[in-house]
Amino acid sequence: MRSHHPLFFTLSSIFFPIFFVIFTFHHTTSSTTLIRDTCKRCSDTDPNLSYNFCTTSLESSPDSRRCQDLHGLGLLSMNLTKQNVTSTRNFIKHLLKNKKKKLDPYVKECLSDCMELYRDAILSIKDAMKDFKDQAYDDANIAASLVTDASTTCEDGFKEKENVVSPLTKRNNDTFQLTAISLSIINMLN
Ligand SMILES: *[C@@H]1O[C@H](CO)[C@@H](O)[C@H](O)[C@H]1NC(C)=O
Ligand SMILES: *[C@@H]1O[C@H](CO)[C@@H](O)[C@H](O)[C@H]1NC(C)=O
Ligand SMILES: *[C@@H]1O[C@H](CO)[C@@H](O)[C@H](O)[C@H]1NC(C)=O
Ligand SMILES: *[C@@H]1O[C@H](CO)[C@@H](O)[C@H](O)[C@H]1NC(C)=O
Repeated sequence: MRSHHPLFFTLSSIFFPIFFVIFTFHHTTSSTTLIRDTCKRCSDTDPNLSYNFCTTSLESSPDSRRCQDLHGLGLLSMNLTKQNVTSTRNFIKHLLKNKKKKLDPYVKECLSDCMELYRDAILSIKDAMKDFKDQAYDDANIAASLVTDASTTCEDGFKEKENVVSPLTKRNNDTFQLTAISLSIINMLN
């Protein structure tokens, strides 16, 4: 058995936490810098994308600290999109099933269309992630664009009739913005 001088334990109990803090801090700052630089580039090239939305949504994810590069950040944005579209699909399902709240027949029709669009969007974002992991960036672009189209087609349906308010405006916009981030990153890597 090798025995350490008592000073070793004293020193390591002091230094280990310090190294740990520095290491964690370094990781957090480097992913924050990566996110800000990437969001700046994305919002500069796509006027539809808000810089603040981009940084807020990526930084708020607990997975973001593990993002070391653009590829990781691309996956993170698609992960967030997948959660978003799944949640929206469930929300629409809930609206359509809710018997207590009588829906306007036109709104109901739009919601049914959106339900189908979002159901397909879940499959598309999964495809996009798989293609992205395989570095098949053209295919990833096509699949992610389908998700963007789902959000705009859904929202446009409500606009076709006057005095109809879409209950999905914020959700559609969130999905639109998230896929704009993904598409920008896909195009940077392609
Ligand atoms: C911005 O959004 C509008 C409306 O959805 C769309 O027509 C246009 O192509 C978008 N621009 C870019 C650069 O994506
Ligand atoms: C969708 O994503 C945005 C950005 O990350 C987030 O602010 C919003 O809460 C999400 N919406 C849902 C319904 O998950
Ligand atoms: C994507 O999400 C899953 C489950 O939420 C998580 O396990 C995985 O680490 C995430 N990947 C990235 C790149 O954020
Ligand atoms: C969509 O969201 C972005 C970012 O939050 C915001 O700047 C923009 O005004 C929203 N657009 C619509 C049509 O709500």
